[in-house]
Amino acid sequence: MNTKRAVIHFFLSWALPWDAMGHGSMFEPPSRNSGGMSLLAPTCAGGACQWYSQGCTIGCPQCSGRYSAEPDCANPAEPTLKWGEDDNLLQYHTDGHGANTTYFPWRYPGAAPIMDSCGIAGGGTPPFGQLDPPPGHPAGSSGSDTAHAPKLLEQTIWVAGSAVEVAWGIAANHGGGYQYRLCPEGEPLTEECFTSTPLEFVGDKQWIRFDNGNPHTAAISRLREIPAVRVSGDKVLPVNSTWTKNPIAGCKINGAREKLPCLGPTMVPPLLDETFPYGGGAEPGLYGFGGGHCMGNVSRNASVRCTDMEYGNAVFNFAIVDLVKVPEHIPPGNYVISFRWDCEQTKQIWSSCGDVTIKGPDAPAAGTKPFSALRGCTPCCAAMGGLCANCTRCLNDRTGDCAYCWKPLEWWGGRQYWSPRASHIQCLGYEASDGGASTWMPGQPTSVWSPGCPKCWALEDGCAMHVRDLEQDISVTPTLPDVIDLRIPRDWMLHGSGALLLAVIGFALAKRKIFQI
Ligand SMILES: *[C@@H]1O[C@H](CO)[C@@H](O)[C@H](O)[C@H]1NC(C)=O
Ligand SMILES: *[C@@H]1O[C@H](CO)[C@@H](O)[C@H](O)[C@H]1NC(C)=O
Ligand SMILES: *[C@@H]1O[C@H](CO)[C@@H](O)[C@H](O)[C@H]1NC(C)=O
Ligand SMILES: *[C@@H]1O[C@H](CO)[C@@H](O)[C@H](O)[C@H]1NC(C)=O
Ligand SMILES: *[C@@H]1O[C@H](CO)[C@@H](O)[C@H](O)[C@H]1NC(C)=O
Repeated sequence: MNTKRAVIHFFLSWALPWDAMGHGSMFEPPSRNSGGMSLLAPTCAGGACQWYSQGCTIGCPQCSGRYSAEPDCANPAEPTLKWGEDDNLLQYHTDGHGANTTYFPWRYPGAAPIMDSCGIAGGGTPPFGQLDPPPGHPAGSSGSDTAHAPKLLEQTIWVAGSAVEVAWGIAANHGGGYQYRLCPEGEPLTEECFTSTPLEFVGDKQWIRFDNGNPHTAAISRLREIPAVRVSGDKVLPVNSTWTKNPIAGCKINGAREKLPCLGPTMVPPLLDETFPYGGGAEPGLYGFGGGHCMGNVSRNASVRCTDMEYGNAVFNFAIVDLVKVPEHIPPGNYVISFRWDCEQTKQIWSSCGDVTIKGPDAPAAGTKPFSALRGCTPCCAAMGGLCANCTRCLNDRTGDCAYCWKPLEWWGGRQYWSPRASHIQCLGYEASDGGASTWMPGQPTSVWSPGCPKCWALEDGCAMHVRDLEQDISVTPTLPDVIDLRIPRDWMLHGSGALLLAVIGFALAKRKIFQI
């Protein structure tokens, strides 16, 4: 075994304690809504957090699309989660604008209608919804329609009966809780289908996976275990299915939207042994509003615009990870997985869909290694209906129909409000030097990002369907991130730099001594 492999083994065994088992969006498995893009992962990959339903009141027949706080029908259901009885599951008495949250989706998990089990771009069809669709999609596009949200080129394999990791990220924290559900591919992607197979959570723990869940460094992301708070029985729909509470505490009173200060956590936050920048870094624990802190109508109030650094601090650079059980007796085949986040602070439901291929328990195949990198070519490939797939003949042409490929696909359809502080997506022109996707992280200067189509088109199999890395097959890691290549002590000794390291440590110790005296 060579050094590189040994080092990777070391990091994997360290990062994955459960190795053998197997505005938010699903991040693992990767969602169709992301278009297969890594920009803004893990909270809003490729704009995945802009697919949602709005104006959804518990017990009403349909969502109205309206943002208002009033119930969306005359006879809403009575909440099952009540203050005084279920305080461990709740965190918002009001919506941050003074309105009562009694009939909002999380107050009876699963009982609010939804516009589309895979989300609607911009939360509704004009004139309703906030009309803030992700780049390249008209408001009102349906997430369950593959013409708008195609399957990814990457396939994820799950083994029936195993426990697998799933994860999502939060772009704007609205409390509430979530569930993952399956529907066989080929069936209409309706709530009726998805509610027939909700996935059961495994154990009473969940994990926070820090460091942006960046596909290139995810193998060495820092993990923290936290207790999971779940609810089941007749307080939820489907009856006896399980929902998990969003563990991240929000901001007191005002929610900290539109750059208002976070006035401390709404509940006792997890990870009290650390202080994080998200909520302003004032109190210990994991809390805040997330990147939504920097969203607001900049036409109405220019001060809501964050600096790049303010945005970098507010953004949640972590994913929330759970283990779910792949049903033991589910027929093998292709399934669509829908993530559904019922909000507590707003009348909104966030959803994303992805694809999993389930193998029988006796199949020799291993399951997909969670968080393994995507090749990222879905947006560039015609067969998938990718956003930039029609730009193949535009590499040396910026005129006529090709102008589209050389213009930024702006967030929110180019509207001036709701400044996202993220890079715009442009099909061509802003690739890394090898023609692949460039890396952009919140906090870096906002510019323009390209998905890396020239590299995909140059690869013989760039546009081919392929299986993501499998659990046992470590050797297929295609591009090794520099950070994994940590042969430092040996090289340093060989090159004499060890002396410098010792000098630095010596100086640090000496300095400490001096200060102690
Ligand atoms: C919200 O409405 C419910 C039902 O009408 C009421 O019992 C509760 O006191 C109200 N809460 C607030 C914070 O106004
Ligand atoms: C829910 O679970 C309870 C307790 O196991 C059981 O009595 C009840 O029949 C179940 N209800 C449904 C609809 O499955
Ligand atoms: C504009 O936004 C800033 C930042 O949140 C806030 O302090 C200020 O009060 C707002 N101004 C108005 C007129 O709403
Ligand atoms: C943003 O503010 C402008 C100017 O006040 C207003 O015309 C527009 O309707 C606002 N947009 C939203 C979505 O609130
Ligand atoms: C590609 O598709 C977009 C969106 O439909 C369209 O505006 C553009 O003209 C097309 N460009 C080419 C080169 O076909």
